[in-house]
Amino acid sequence: MATDQIVALPTDLQLLSVTSEMFPLVKTGGLGDVAASLPTALRHHGVRTVTILPGYPAVMNALTHRTEVFVFHDMLGYRTTLWEGTAHGRHLYVVDVPELYDREGGPYLGPDGRDWPDNHMRFAVLSRVAACIAQGCLPSWRPDVVMTHDWQAGLVAAYLRYDQLPAPPVAHVIHNMAFQGLFPREVLSRIGLPGHAFTFDGVEFYGKVGYLKAGLQIAGRLITVSPTYAEEIQTEQNGMGLEGLLRSRSADLSGILNGIDLHEWNSLTDPAVIFPYAIGDIAGRRANKRVFQAEFGLPQDSNAMLLGIVSRLTRQKGVDILAEIAPRLFQANIQLAVVGVGDQEIMQSFRTLQLAYPRNLVCHLRYDEILGHRLHSAVDASLVPSRFEPCGLTQLHALRYGSVPIAARVGGLTDTIVDANAAAIEEGVANGILFSPTEPDALYRAIMHGKKLFRQKSVWARLQRNGSLHDVSWHGKAAHYARLLMEMAGRAPVRAFGENDIAPRLSDMGMPFSPSSAFTRTARMPQSRPRNPGLGRTESPRFGAAS
Ligand code: ADP
Ligand code: GLC
Repeated sequence: MATDQIVALPTDLQLLSVTSEMFPLVKTGGLGDVAASLPTALRHHGVRTVTILPGYPAVMNALTHRTEVFVFHDMLGYRTTLWEGTAHGRHLYVVDVPELYDREGGPYLGPDGRDWPDNHMRFAVLSRVAACIAQGCLPSWRPDVVMTHDWQAGLVAAYLRYDQLPAPPVAHVIHNMAFQGLFPREVLSRIGLPGHAFTFDGVEFYGKVGYLKAGLQIAGRLITVSPTYAEEIQTEQNGMGLEGLLRSRSADLSGILNGIDLHEWNSLTDPAVIFPYAIGDIAGRRANKRVFQAEFGLPQDSNAMLLGIVSRLTRQKGVDILAEIAPRLFQANIQLAVVGVGDQEIMQSFRTLQLAYPRNLVCHLRYDEILGHRLHSAVDASLVPSRFEPCGLTQLHALRYGSVPIAARVGGLTDTIVDANAAAIEEGVANGILFSPTEPDALYRAIMHGKKLFRQKSVWARLQRNGSLHDVSWHGKAAHYARLLMEMAGRAPVRAFGENDIAPRLSDMGMPFSPSSAFTRTARMPQSRPRNPGLGRTESPRFGAAS
């Protein structure tokens, strides 16, 4: 588990990260991974993050060294306790409202698979509390910049704008435009926003309150999780109705690729890997394929190409297309392992296929972190046939563990995979296979192309080696984030220091300089303030619904 081992310096930029997920406490997808690993990576670039999360049971149970730092007697109608503590080495603020968060089920869906009916309040309260911290309600700590993730935190920027109080700038990170947090107009007063926020340049989106829209419209800077997705979302095809807004904000929009935690993803130390092997040791991983085939009842045939997929089973991921072509693949002696959960219909189609092709298909239709790791250490190729993919982490996991990604030419998949076309093979730079469009025949052809290359052992080994050498770390990407955040705070950029250093030298640290107004879009926080988070509890006045 990554912990925050670097000594804090008074010059560190203080970042408040507002998120609805954080691995390993709560995760439905890559957002949870990024919300956990980016802060650790940012520590090496002079950015110190405190993450604020809803008090789901898993979060409350994991919180250690907790201190009650604030009580909001009426936070949009709820008595709300703000805890500060640590969990899995992360510094957290936790918004504790038992009526909203203390329940069985996922962060967004109830046990019946439907959205929680009070999601608008669950994430409004999270955002409202984060906005209060940004405005300085804690005497002990204020952030220099706020980073908000996805629709669940989109309202932070709105609260800060309509309160008209001094507040730090907001960077909104777009992980997925498909989830927009749209609610009826009537929720506006309930979530404590004034009537005049319901406009085209406020939170209104086609007659509804749009939480994502609010973030995109109001945050000072927008960041998407890959450069290609930053381009794609400005088009009608991928902008999900928000392309016009995004085009109008293109000067404030950056695309920064995600990285992964190299300590979590180390096949030599990963407990999920049955036969540990060094990154890049292609021969060393072979035993993992054999034992995986045995473990899951597939014929132990090293010549049979074994494909795998770890994914949410939704239309975004193109898994319905995979199910459609699966019988053709099985006729070609291809094996497939599926680890995923999602749409009932898609899960049912895999169940049916497994009954018909038990010697070719093995399905684990659930969320299974161990198998999600093991699979990439064992399979020959990992499939990512997405219709759209803002970044994608699963292809990064595959590359790192020596499984060749076969992926759709969309979003972050394009930015991380070098297609094995003849020229790239000749040059020795290919690390995977890309196909387009995301349709059954194109996917089938890509897999068959892969099968041909799989038979050419030296070509395939080169793809695997290139993949494992590909930089999937956070190093350069976190530096990019840090530069942007420093710029937003009106600071000079900090030079990165090595991951093995205990602390940076003072000479490595950029000293604050007089801010240029070009860098900030919202009012600047006062410079002199205490830096050590978390001492003592404070009580609040009322944060009631707007009348
Ligand atoms: P998304 O966030 O769109 O779901 P990503 O590829 O960015 O896609 O991240 C998905 C993350 O969730 C990865 O860490 C992946 O390994 C993990 N994951 C997805 N489905 C499962 C599953 N059924 N079991 C274990 N891990 C899963
Ligand atoms: C989203 C996207 C995925 C991305 C992840 C983390 O869930 O679908 O592509 O990798 O967020 O940013």
